[in-house]
Amino acid sequence: MPDLNCTYRPPPVKCNGFDPRAFRWAQTMRLAVEEINQSAELLPNYTLGYNIFDSCAYPLTGQRAAMAVLNGQSEDDSPTCSGNSPLLAVIGESGSAQSIVVSRILQPFRIPMISYFSSCACFTDKKNYPTFFRVIPNDDYQVKAIAQLLVRFNFTWVGLVRGDHEYGRFAVQGLLRELQGTKVCVAYQEMIPLLYNRKRALEILQVMRSSTAKVVVVFSAEGEMTPFLRDYMTQNITGIQWVASEAWITASVFTASEYYPYLGGTIGFGIRKGQISGLSDYLQTVNPQMYLDNTLVKELWEALYGCDPSLSSGSPLPSCSGQETLLEQHSAYINTSSPRVAYNVYKAVYAIAHSLHNLLLCQPGSGPFQNNSCAQSNNIYPWQLQHYLQEVTFNIAGEEVNFDLKGDSIPYYDILNWQRGMGGNIEFVNVGLFDGTKPAGEELLIQEDRIMWAGHQSEVPMSVCSTSCLPGSRKAVRRGEPVCCFDCVPCDSGKISNQTNSIECTFCPDDFWSDIDRTVCILKIVEFLAYDSLGIALTVISVVGASLTIAVFAVFFYHRNTAIVRVNNSVLSFFILFALTLCFLCSLVFIGEPTYWSCMLRHTIFSITFSFCISCILGKTLVVLAAFTATRPGDNIMKWLGPKQQRAIIFICTVIQVVICAAWLIESPPFPSRNTQYEISKIILECSVGSSLAFWCVLGYIGLQACLCFILAFLARKLPGNFNEAKVITFSMLIFCAVWLSFVPAYISSPGKYADAVESFAILASSFGLLFCLFAPKCFIILLKPEKNTRQHLMGK
Ligand code: TRP
Repeated sequence: MPDLNCTYRPPPVKCNGFDPRAFRWAQTMRLAVEEINQSAELLPNYTLGYNIFDSCAYPLTGQRAAMAVLNGQSEDDSPTCSGNSPLLAVIGESGSAQSIVVSRILQPFRIPMISYFSSCACFTDKKNYPTFFRVIPNDDYQVKAIAQLLVRFNFTWVGLVRGDHEYGRFAVQGLLRELQGTKVCVAYQEMIPLLYNRKRALEILQVMRSSTAKVVVVFSAEGEMTPFLRDYMTQNITGIQWVASEAWITASVFTASEYYPYLGGTIGFGIRKGQISGLSDYLQTVNPQMYLDNTLVKELWEALYGCDPSLSSGSPLPSCSGQETLLEQHSAYINTSSPRVAYNVYKAVYAIAHSLHNLLLCQPGSGPFQNNSCAQSNNIYPWQLQHYLQEVTFNIAGEEVNFDLKGDSIPYYDILNWQRGMGGNIEFVNVGLFDGTKPAGEELLIQEDRIMWAGHQSEVPMSVCSTSCLPGSRKAVRRGEPVCCFDCVPCDSGKISNQTNSIECTFCPDDFWSDIDRTVCILKIVEFLAYDSLGIALTVISVVGASLTIAVFAVFFYHRNTAIVRVNNSVLSFFILFALTLCFLCSLVFIGEPTYWSCMLRHTIFSITFSFCISCILGKTLVVLAAFTATRPGDNIMKWLGPKQQRAIIFICTVIQVVICAAWLIESPPFPSRNTQYEISKIILECSVGSSLAFWCVLGYIGLQACLCFILAFLARKLPGNFNEAKVITFSMLIFCAVWLSFVPAYISSPGKYADAVESFAILASSFGLLFCLFAPKCFIILLKPEKNTRQHLMGK
């Protein structure tokens, strides 16, 4: 390509290199024309002529070729001698970029063109390309197919590389459009420069190397791919899975064995293949001996055999006979096993021939043109042929060929996979198809097991930005990065995700909670003070306490006539012991699953027994106090505190508590409730107090009694007598109050079942306190120091 910076007149464009593949296509055209010319059915009595121009597969040289076509032969030696160009139609161009240029040049002359390889979606714009036809499907279908392929194999992180031409530009645009809304993201987009430039290519390769996208979709043709792949091979980049566009998926240049380690496994969509009988033989007839001074044949020989068949000396290449046979290894030229592009050329020639045939069959008076006229057979205008082209339908080997309203053909692709052949070279293996005429979703048919992936692997390669999030976690998008790149964050407790790649964790329903893995909701643990170790311990303590009390009771009863039992009213002592037994036992109600009944019983039984117990102690204190403050014998006080009165006091004090409890039970009794607030992962079964006022009243009343008892006992503590009970009562009340004062904060701050345990424990502790303080000294004397158990001793001085 000349430098077009407009500062000097550019030198003429030069073509370099020789493309045996394109030469084969040209030969196919010749074959088709010759077939038609020999045919007795198609265009009998007419001979098609043609001219082949080299566009060098560049827009600029394509333009030069198009001008040459138009300027063609001069008027004088025009066989029609009409002054019109004999040119009726053009077959070409291959690349879309060139086709665009050629189409623009041909348009003013209304010369139709049929392209066999220009798949660019841009040609659907009929306003811009009214005379353009093609026998290759529009790339819109190919990008759709590629997008489906990427989605199908979970290639969610892909790189895009394209050549610098309309084909690449539109294809990438189309692919991006197709990928919108799918799970596939594009990691990078790179463009191989039109004028190949190694520095730029290395930059692209660097991007490829550093990216985690292992799948690279390339919209490019072998022209720019060849140098690019050569550089790729030197860079020692591994693990790239190529997805090839139709332009290079069937390029035989890359089938050489040296490419296999780098390109093996490439997958892509190839255009439909067909059968051209006799093509192989026809290609073989082309040799320098047959076409002595055809420069293209000479160049072909140079390209295939690396020798110069023209006997002229002065060429740097060794000379050869020109009779060398074309061999397998010359597949770039001779590969005719499944012609695809060549088949398109063939179809294009036939399309023109059939249209011309139809044009010539026109009956005067029923023609398609003005006043039902027909075209004149000796003066056919290109636009007249175009009319017939639009309508032509014909059959080639069972395949129907026609053009739709946009001049396009039927979308059908083979999925090709590059696998290792016998000789270590690359073979194109058909592993599926894409049929665009099928309903959406059913177009793609892949035989996955037949695919060989890059690196000679049968496992589908991974190309993802972030590996998927396992159940139990959710995706968290990274700011400023494509949606395919995300972090996985574990679900919060109480939430789960049971699918991979969940976007959100869902809340567990009521009464359910997430498990450790956060993948399933499990029923919340129901917690209450059960007969587990804690429950059993409390039960044992309470039973032991009750038994002890009963034992003391027995001892007292046995020694009921001794002085120490009889002093200060033995009946009261028995009352107290009875009450204490109940106190010990009532802690049992706190253990076990709370039920309607147990909840009601808990606080009421406890408060009433405690009230009763303390009332008895209170009674006793009163007796002690009264006995000693009665300074003179026969004082009235003792009369007022006879056994009857004592019992009345006890009864009244207890009844007050009973009344409070009754009111509580009637108004708003305690009930079992499920507490889900305290600890969200558990359901705590507890007894709701119903009315907390009542609860604190009940406790307060016991407290009040205890305090009163304490104060009275305190006053009496220094009264004379060797055995002054007031001392022990003071002490026991101190312990009692200490226990219940510390109970309050402990109860309030204990979670769930521990609140019950605390209460139960407080009951036991205070009961033990009372039992020991009140009865241990007496038991000691009764059992171990019976000699002190006399009235004299007790009275002291
Ligand atoms: N389908 C391609 C196109 O429409 C095929 C092609 C042929 C091509 N020759 C090319 C692509 C040269 C790029 C360059 O363009």
